[in-house]
Amino acid sequence: MRISRQKLKELITQKLHKAGLSEEHADGVAEVLVHADIRGIHSHGAMRVEYYAERIAKGGLNINPEFKFDKTGPCTAVFDGDNGVGHVAAKQAMDEAIKMAKENGVAAVGVRRIGHSGALSYFVRQAAKSDMIGISLCQSDPMVVPFGGSEPYYGTNPIAFAAPSHDNRIMTLDMATTVQAWGKILHARSKNESIPDSWAVDKEGHPTTDPFKVNALLPIAGPKGYGLMMMVDVLSGILLGLPFGDKVSSMYHDLTEYRNLGQLHLVINPAFFTNPDLFKQHISNTMDDLNRIKPAPGFNQVLFPGQNNDLIQEEYEKNGIEIVDDIYEYLVSDIVHKNQYDNKDPFAK
Ligand code: NAI
Repeated sequence: MRISRQKLKELITQKLHKAGLSEEHADGVAEVLVHADIRGIHSHGAMRVEYYAERIAKGGLNINPEFKFDKTGPCTAVFDGDNGVGHVAAKQAMDEAIKMAKENGVAAVGVRRIGHSGALSYFVRQAAKSDMIGISLCQSDPMVVPFGGSEPYYGTNPIAFAAPSHDNRIMTLDMATTVQAWGKILHARSKNESIPDSWAVDKEGHPTTDPFKVNALLPIAGPKGYGLMMMVDVLSGILLGLPFGDKVSSMYHDLTEYRNLGQLHLVINPAFFTNPDLFKQHISNTMDDLNRIKPAPGFNQVLFPGQNNDLIQEEYEKNGIEIVDDIYEYLVSDIVHKNQYDNKDPFAK
């Protein structure tokens, strides 16, 4: 069904407030989830609300966190999220990073001890909307084999980047470092469909097409994606003194425990490197150049990174956001959660 941005935000806020978050934090999470849904990133939108509600109910998310912002140098800071909602902590930390980069040219802000923060494009686009380049990286639960391995070690450790143009378009890259998300395996299981052999491996480390035999996901581009997820883990975990590698907490293993996740925001102020107007003009030129490239057979147009989501957003702003009926039914119901996520992690040790 279709629903307006405002209505979806209202319903998510109400549900999360009912689950136990303050109105301010419920609203902050809803803002990031609606960003994901309206840009077609449904894996990180309203479908996550029930999981968060269950985690809140079971104590695995601090509903009264004390955020601490510790400026450790002219361009560096550590934001401690006290295991509250990651969306709100990461948003506030990015606001601080933007202020620092405005003044000093660059900022690196570590966000430590947080819950899941959702789609990272939200945070990097905050930077781009302030005429800065934003980069954000975060840890996620171990479910990916290192290249050549048969046991999971790293998470789907996403990387996001955004840069402003001179005409309000934003170049946005936002990607997990795995070929596919775990959600896609679940989807194939629910439909009893096979999966391509490039997505995941079985217990022995053999590529598998059977979604029921999946024991771990595969990194993008073999050793290169594996290297990127290592880099994300070092920068958003080890650098912040947090659990790393396969010690990172699992999303579904124990919903009573805090997750202690890490994220790193990097902000670069183009004005400290070049003429900032020219920078934005050249980003616009790049977008136009890419759109003019002759498409390959089977493609209508070459899109710049993030433009696929811009096109969805344009349509959803006009006609309402498409959400699954079951999710809508849950959001309008009195149910807080149906106790269906705890201990559902197939890779948990
Ligand atoms: P995806 O595969 O849908 O897209 C990856 C990138 O490719 C995006 O920048 C997208 O704009 C671009 N793209 C896709 N189709 C395109 C086209 N036709 N032309 C040009 N560019 C195109 O994204 P993925 O990897 O499935 O990640 C989804 C979300 O999951 C992201 O928002 C990510 O931040 C989030 N995530 C969050 C985690 C967390 O723990 N917080 C963990 C893993 C992922």
